[in-house]
Amino acid sequence: MTGVLDIAKSSLNRNGFLDIEVDPSLDLVVEINNMKKEKNAIILAHYYQESEIQDVADYIGDSLGLSQKAESTEADIIVFAGVHFMAETAKMLNPLKKVLLPDLKAGCSLADSCPAPMFKKFKEKYPDHIVVSYINCTAELKTLTDICCTSSNAEAIINSIPTDKGIIFAPDKNLGAYLIKKTGRDMVLWNGACMVHEIFSREKITKLMHRNPQAKFIAHPECEAHILDMADFIGSTSQMLKYTQQNSAASFIVGTEAGIIHQMELASPNKTFIPAPPTNNCVCNECPHMKRNTLEKLYISMKYELPEIILEDWVIEKGRKCIDSMLEVSANAGFKA
Ligand code: 13P
Ligand code: SF4
Repeated sequence: MTGVLDIAKSSLNRNGFLDIEVDPSLDLVVEINNMKKEKNAIILAHYYQESEIQDVADYIGDSLGLSQKAESTEADIIVFAGVHFMAETAKMLNPLKKVLLPDLKAGCSLADSCPAPMFKKFKEKYPDHIVVSYINCTAELKTLTDICCTSSNAEAIINSIPTDKGIIFAPDKNLGAYLIKKTGRDMVLWNGACMVHEIFSREKITKLMHRNPQAKFIAHPECEAHILDMADFIGSTSQMLKYTQQNSAASFIVGTEAGIIHQMELASPNKTFIPAPPTNNCVCNECPHMKRNTLEKLYISMKYELPEIILEDWVIEKGRKCIDSMLEVSANAGFKA
């Protein structure tokens, strides 16, 4: 007899998640917390997740912190509340664990902008160059990469490469251009970008700054150069959060995905956080990929232990080398989750 789960499983490829109705009378937070204990599961969430997912997570962090946690956890199941490349990274770092992603279609425009076969051809033009890939890329791209970086450690990673070596940086041209400026290194850039960080309006931010002259404008390095030029502070999500805690300003215009404002408000309840506006009236400062995860999908995913991230052995073996190299340089430079 075909059951509800079989029907849901058969639609997994199409939908990216188990399409099962959740009993509306359930207290999902209680259910999720119970399953964490019963199944020895850990929930890792990125700052861009919905607030209610962040509130139920065991660890909330940026891409680097999440990788470090995924590598060190003793839990049997890693439930990744983030996007596909992050869950793949967790699987590569801790392949014996079951890694769940509530919605397999939670992708990333940056990762999508750099298909491995195209990059392979591009790389052949620069045979002596070191390939540095932003962690926001597919597992397959990582197999073509010498060392990864995140927005937290990117400068340290570039500076760890001998100055006589040429560098290809993929896939984010904005982060790449920012790093060229910061490190003075000449790098060949892949032409990719994040759909969320490319949408901020210089004109609207300028107006906001005029209306809020005391506010500090903080921006993520995935933003375009003309946005970064206006910023009082540039950093990864965790660095932006830290800045808002340590800086004496009472208000901040936040130039990254708006989900992080939840942690900023929790950490500094008396400060005001204004999301930087996009060029049009959409909610484009919310990542549609990150936002595919919901509390319901998280609950279903933990209950049925699906969808699971499965990677071929050769991808894990070859792809994790560049992540291990990154973690080693990060540890030596003092980056801790
Ligand atoms: P960080 O987590 O490194 O700040 O990067 C932000 C991002 O875009 C993740 O997708
Ligand atoms: Fe990818 Fe941008 Fe979404 Fe981050 S915010 S997951 S870089 S599309």
